[in-house]
Amino acid sequence: MIRRTLYVVPETPKEVREEFRREAARRGVRFLFESGEYFLAEENAPDLAWATDIAWEAYEVDAASITAAAKNLKQTAHDLGKKSTRWLRLEGLHHRRAALVAENLATGEAPSLSYRRGANRPDSLRPSEGKPALAGFFLLSPERALAVFDSLTPYPGGSAPFAEEKHGPPSRAYLKLWEICARLERAGLGIPKPGETALDLGSCPGGWTWALAELGARVASFDGAPLDPAVAKRPEVAYEKADAFRLVPRAADWFFSDMICEPKRLPELLARWRDAGCARFAVSVKFKGEADEAALARLREIPGARLRHLRQNKHELTWFLAPDLKRI
Ligand SMILES: C[S@@+](CC[C@H](N)C(=O)[O-])C[C@H]1O[C@@H](n2cnc3c(N)ncnc32)[C@H](O)[C@@H]1O
Repeated sequence: MIRRTLYVVPETPKEVREEFRREAARRGVRFLFESGEYFLAEENAPDLAWATDIAWEAYEVDAASITAAAKNLKQTAHDLGKKSTRWLRLEGLHHRRAALVAENLATGEAPSLSYRRGANRPDSLRPSEGKPALAGFFLLSPERALAVFDSLTPYPGGSAPFAEEKHGPPSRAYLKLWEICARLERAGLGIPKPGETALDLGSCPGGWTWALAELGARVASFDGAPLDPAVAKRPEVAYEKADAFRLVPRAADWFFSDMICEPKRLPELLARWRDAGCARFAVSVKFKGEADEAALARLREIPGARLRHLRQNKHELTWFLAPDLKRI
């Protein structure tokens, strides 16, 4: 088995792939294999913000026959001390052959996730002493397979299906907040709890505010435009029509922002809210045209901060900051 780094980058929007390729080139990453969402590089390749998922524990194995593929995948898990691994067949090349390999493995499921009030979530969200409940695999060629352990997302390989909410949220943006929650949980940082305070800047029409209220947080929601009336009248929600740049910062357990604004305005805004006592942040950084590298550099240099592309992000990154944030 040969250790590799797997990057997962959605096929659309094309701007994200362009940003990813530029970032990879700047960091000197060369790809050994590219297909669909997958980009394979040498082991211990750099952390790239524009990758939606990264697995540093990816192993290329011989798969000359169906049985050899299954045997080598299992052996890899065994050699790494990962007991009772359940396998997910990831989208990729040579589907029929991969399906036959899967028949020779103990397979698992990737149930869709929900952060609606009272929803149950699988244990795979929480890293358990380095033993992932799930590993992914796909075929690089008819003779080579890739085993994927322990990526940044709950399900190795970067697909995190979320439950569809037809009634309740006024926009599909709740999915981005749920993806943020899945990342926070996966990183062991926890998510907003009942009674905690959460700020939501640029909240209209209210998908994030709805999702935070569903978690039981007390949400202070700000936008120049009105919030959906059904969300505004929820008991957990206090909406104020405001320009978020003119608010007087105050402490809160969580700071969220999906505001559309020039990225270069964010470092100063975020510094003021940090000084006021906010410690945990998830903030959309949206771009028109090529990413503003100077603004990104300033956001990156804040100690403990991480920039990540999420599957729900268009041409944008999410800036995370939390105490003890090691990876997200
Ligand atoms: C992408 S939308 C947010 C969607 C929202 N997260 C949801 O879940 O429905 C961006 C919002 O940022 C708001 N916005 C832009 N500049 C703002 C500012 N300076 N202050 C407050 N809101 C602002 C816009 O009015 C718009 O509603």
